[in-house]
Amino acid sequence: MLQYRYELNRRRALHALAAFAAGSPLRAFQQDPFRDHSRIPALTEMRTALDFEAVAFVRLPRPVFDYTAYGSDSEFTLRRNRQAFDWVELTPHAQPVRTPDTAAQLLGTKLNYPILLSPTAGHLQLHPDGEPATYAGATAAAATPMIVSNVSSVPFEKIAGASRGPIWFQLYPRNDSESNHETLERVQGAGAQAVVVTVDQQASFFERILHSRHLNPGAPGGVRRRTSSRGAPRNPYRVPEDRLFYEWKLFDEWRKIVKVPLIVKGVLTPEDAKICLEHGIDAVYVSNHGARSLDYAPSSLEVLPDIVDAVGGRVPVIFDSGIRRGADILKALALGASAVGLGRIARWGLAAYGAEGVQRALEIMQAELKLAMMAAGCASLKAVNRSLVRTDFP
Ligand SMILES: Cc1cc2nc3c(=O)[nH]c(=O)nc-3n(C[C@H](O)[C@H](O)[C@H](O)COP(=O)(O)O)c2cc1C
Repeated sequence: MLQYRYELNRRRALHALAAFAAGSPLRAFQQDPFRDHSRIPALTEMRTALDFEAVAFVRLPRPVFDYTAYGSDSEFTLRRNRQAFDWVELTPHAQPVRTPDTAAQLLGTKLNYPILLSPTAGHLQLHPDGEPATYAGATAAAATPMIVSNVSSVPFEKIAGASRGPIWFQLYPRNDSESNHETLERVQGAGAQAVVVTVDQQASFFERILHSRHLNPGAPGGVRRRTSSRGAPRNPYRVPEDRLFYEWKLFDEWRKIVKVPLIVKGVLTPEDAKICLEHGIDAVYVSNHGARSLDYAPSSLEVLPDIVDAVGGRVPVIFDSGIRRGADILKALALGASAVGLGRIARWGLAAYGAEGVQRALEIMQAELKLAMMAAGCASLKAVNRSLVRTDFP
């Protein structure tokens, strides 16, 4: 406020503008990809995964862009998911590495990179080719496994028929136990190579979406507004009405039906990780749902080391929430993750350039991981361990 007491001259105005730009949250993670452009750049001009977000912003109606962008409530956890990576330093080993080996084994499958596509809802609103294009893009990017969301906009069978890469299925259990069983049988019949059961997202409060509804009622792609018989908006805060209250014993039931690896997604405490082990789960998936479940939950990265310790190598630990750079992947692996998931990055790629955008965004992340491994002196993923990082979590 003080500066308004001074007369505004050109020097002060430029100074204020520079200070504003320097304080923008975007500056913390990326260069401005469009500073020299007055047009949407071509796919070949994409340099980082973050570049795709800006193109997605230009291409999508605002409510659709917001649906991907938001976190719950005041978005504390959304910010923290990114900030947490700043609290992990990489301490390189002086070891010459020419071509790092990024091959990984996960649940009996060989992966070219320890990277998966996290399950995310409704891809048709991002691009007319929807999930089949996401799957094709993921397969083209060194056979990256795609985890298809239970709320995909195209049926699992149709997605599975679109390509030949690894494909998993994510389940939001319903109250109706028969419908869960049917879904699990059906997706396994259609080729799901693993089943991920999401146990967070009991209820959430999506303020950006609520505001969008008021500001853009009926906007294309906007979240549909269901009304009750009296005409009032039903369930305005999107509390899931037909989702199950998760009882761990249900996993014993599903264990008998699921013949492929069974994974629990949304684990944020060592205690829950241990319960997963007691129920014969094949992998623990540490995630805060990209900060879309409980606001003020910790960042996934902060809780990862304790969960890895609790699991003690008995099953793999998968990690997601907040990854935007290859170095972020290296940090999560160094803290004990066996593989990581990417959520929003794939959505930006799809919205920006369809299947090719998904492929390119993934290839950029793969190339960045390789560069980070080289710079850190890691010849293979076996060399990636806690000696590579110094954490300073508050
Ligand atoms: C728009 C959007 C939709 C999502 N839909 C699902 C879903 O249907 N099922 C699920 O288990 N997780 C869902 N997630 C969470 C992702 O699987 C993943 O945990 C999260 O996106 C990872 O964080 P990141 O976006 O920062 O990479 C969704 C995330 C986003 C951004």
